[in-house]
Amino acid sequence: MDNPANLLEIKDLNVGFDTPDGKVHAVNCLNVSIKAGDALAIVGESGSGKTQTVMSIMGLLAENGHASGQALFKGKDLLQMTTSELNQHRGREIAMIFQDPMTSLNPYLRIDKQMTEVVMHHQGLNKTEARAHAVEMLRAVRIPDPERRIRQYPHEFSGGMRQRVMVAMGLLCAPDLLIADEPTTALDVTVQAQISHLMSALRRQSNTAIILITHDLGVVAGLAERVLVMYAGEAVECGSVEQIYYDPKHPYTQGLLASVPRLDKPEEDGLNSIPGNPPNLLALPEGCKFRDRCPKAHEACSEKPPMQLDEQKHAWRCFLGETA
Ligand SMILES: Nc1ncnc2c1ncn2[C@@H]1O[C@H](COP(=O)(O)OP(=O)(O)O)[C@@H](O)[C@H]1O
Ligand code: SF4
Ligand SMILES: [Mg+2]
Repeated sequence: MDNPANLLEIKDLNVGFDTPDGKVHAVNCLNVSIKAGDALAIVGESGSGKTQTVMSIMGLLAENGHASGQALFKGKDLLQMTTSELNQHRGREIAMIFQDPMTSLNPYLRIDKQMTEVVMHHQGLNKTEARAHAVEMLRAVRIPDPERRIRQYPHEFSGGMRQRVMVAMGLLCAPDLLIADEPTTALDVTVQAQISHLMSALRRQSNTAIILITHDLGVVAGLAERVLVMYAGEAVECGSVEQIYYDPKHPYTQGLLASVPRLDKPEEDGLNSIPGNPPNLLALPEGCKFRDRCPKAHEACSEKPPMQLDEQKHAWRCFLGETA
């Protein structure tokens, strides 16, 4: 049964792309949910299906893409909505911050135009009110001299400042859900920390739930309580930040953690990235998809491992660490 406490409930989500070489299986039977005000991180190497998961629920898949399953937002399936129905939710109730702000900021429009249109459209404010609200949001994300800067074009902002503009735009309508896709990847560590801090503060203020997408487990701890680890389009582990950091069950999560630099451990000889490559999404292997790279692979792994769930709601898809 659907759990009414869930703001977003993704059920059996599959995302595929038709290509001349065949079907790319980008997301495979994904199940995950998020409650109001919660913060979930989705982690995995590049190509693991993180972005396409959220693109599908936002109705933003490329033309050759198709999604099946359900994405229930407040009980209504986003995958079944028409564009105009989706537009009722996008921006106002669900906002998204993209990895590259230049893909969602219009380079030919001043920032004020881009910010005020959203609020005028969704909140019925007049131009002056909308502008005042936009300036207030820019100030909240610590853009100095926001009255002047709001009149500038995106290219007049540095990368870090543009990313802040994106955060401000994402939070403009105090959405119920903010999806941030690698929002800090291109930025230096100090700016990354500031932006994470800002998102947490704004989350507390407006009880916004956050889905943070990242390929780097190192950036998760400060912002999220729960972590979903994806591999080759599948959920391979899901648990609290503590469970994932201190008691990772899946060998892939263990490998990801070993490649995160840690302050509490002396620098060893380089970081251990996981050897090998993810499988070809055009022809996924039977059995465990991590098998080729797994240091613990054994005979049973040619069968598909079940999702195991312990009493603390820590879930992982591997034959090891059995709870039964
Ligand atoms: N339009 C498309 N056509 C074919 N394959 C695509 C398309 N868009 C994305 N993909 C593939 O889907 C897979 C998952 O991509 P993505 O969700 O962007 O990964 P991540 O965000 O985890 O790095 C990748 O292999 C990518 O190449
Ligand atoms: S099921 Fe087998 S191959 Fe897959 S992660 Fe577990 S031990 Fe490794
Ligand atoms: Mg991505």
